Amino acid sequence: MHNPVRFGKYDLLALLATGGMAEIWLARVSGMAGFEKLVVIKRLLDKLAIDHEYVEMFLDEARINARLTHSHIVQVLELGQVEGKYFMVMEYVPGLTVSQVGKRATKALGEVPQAVACGVVAQACSGLHYAHEKALPDGTPLDIIHRDVSPQNLIVTFEGLVKVLDFGIAKAHGRQSQTRTGLVKGKFSYMSPEQCLGQSLDRRTDVFALGIVLFELCTARRLFKRGSTYETYTAISNADVPAPRTLNDKIHEEVEAVIVKALQKNPDHRFATADDMQEALEKAMRSAGLQGTALHLAKFMRSAFGAEEQEQQRLLSQAQRGELGSAAEAVQVSPVAAAAAAETAANYVAQDERTSVDLLPPLGEDSGRNWKSDLDGDEVEDHDPLFDMKTTTMPPPPPASSQANTEPRGVPALGGSIPTIYYFLAFSSVVLIVLIAWLIAR
Ligand SMILES: Nc1ncnc2c1ncn2[C@@H]1O[C@H](COP(=O)(O)OP(=O)(O)O)[C@@H](O)[C@H]1O
Ligand SMILES: [Mg+2]
Repeated sequence: MHNPVRFGKYDLLALLATGGMAEIWLARVSGMAGFEKLVVIKRLLDKLAIDHEYVEMFLDEARINARLTHSHIVQVLELGQVEGKYFMVMEYVPGLTVSQVGKRATKALGEVPQAVACGVVAQACSGLHYAHEKALPDGTPLDIIHRDVSPQNLIVTFEGLVKVLDFGIAKAHGRQSQTRTGLVKGKFSYMSPEQCLGQSLDRRTDVFALGIVLFELCTARRLFKRGSTYETYTAISNADVPAPRTLNDKIHEEVEAVIVKALQKNPDHRFATADDMQEALEKAMRSAGLQGTALHLAKFMRSAFGAEEQEQQRLLSQAQRGELGSAAEAVQVSPVAAAAAAETAANYVAQDERTSVDLLPPLGEDSGRNWKSDLDGDEVEDHDPLFDMKTTTMPPPPPASSQANTEPRGVPALGGSIPTIYYFLAFSSVVLIVLIAWLIAR
């Protein structure tokens, strides 16, 4: 039995995840008369706390998210600093990320039921539309854009509620930290063409990302993820989208039409708002007879992931009894990931050493990457090392001979090492000078 580590007024019970910028802890706050509440604490990584830009980004995330109170957005409750560490407190959301739902359902059932895919994305549309529309009490629009919509940033609870999280790189009016011109933020394989190109963005970039999530859930395939950053970048820039029904003929035509519209390269041809997308999706569901309400999602979650829910409950009560080890030991248990979080941390480290062996084949007729083959890295975020940090530079042109970009994360690629020709020229010059000197000396 261990005592949880005290952090301000909170007890840190278990480390849920470690991301590029922060650690996510399950924590408990206690009050009078036996009051206890589980919360999640997102704590900026120590190594980033010395960097003003990251601190501002973190503070912005909390400030932006705190303005949002909606059933489909994870609530932020507090922003603070303890022992020099910045942290925010959020509601604890028990469930699975959409990434986990996609991968596990594909493994267990061979697919994500179309009704579930549509229901999940419809709820995500609702949360994002609320954020897009959010204004100050005096009516000034906040112009919030999430910019990082991805299956890892959507949680489905066992009650069938979908919640959007991680406003870490959200754009908003009044944001303190600024994106430098030409910098790209976000997870590469869920970006829109305009985001990839570093162009100005509006809410329709989130519509595009929702289209990617829906495409992937319905086809059980990754849409833009390729073997290298450059290939992914090219695929997105061209908005290279195969017709969903060629990959899964069970997809209803109207659902396909929604996916295709959300994924238009030109933002003017997409749904103008996430609300429009939700409406179209719900209409398609009605005409296809797809039942994807919160009630249906809850039934699906319970029937497909009953074991996961029980496991989360078990881990949770263990954590509350302090039986999961101390925070100092950084025991990796994730009620969200049901014990798979150790992998997350390990893989985060391993990402720096990724080679082309780990990377994915291009989406093709038979080489299409599906979630079945992606299961080993269940909780691994799918960003390339170079794009792991929130702020990244535009990708370099592809190195002629290499498929994979193996630059350390956060370091802008130079587009290859110094060409051998320069070494050759330098060496020849030295030889020439020595020769001339020898001739003169003679
Ligand atoms: N409030 C929460 N409740 C439950 N799980 C959460 C919560 N916040 C984050 N997580 C888990 O931690 C992961 C990383 O959190 P996130 O805020 O997305 O951090 P990052 O900025 O590192 O991506 C999520 O994908 C989710 O699995
Ligand atoms: Mg995230």
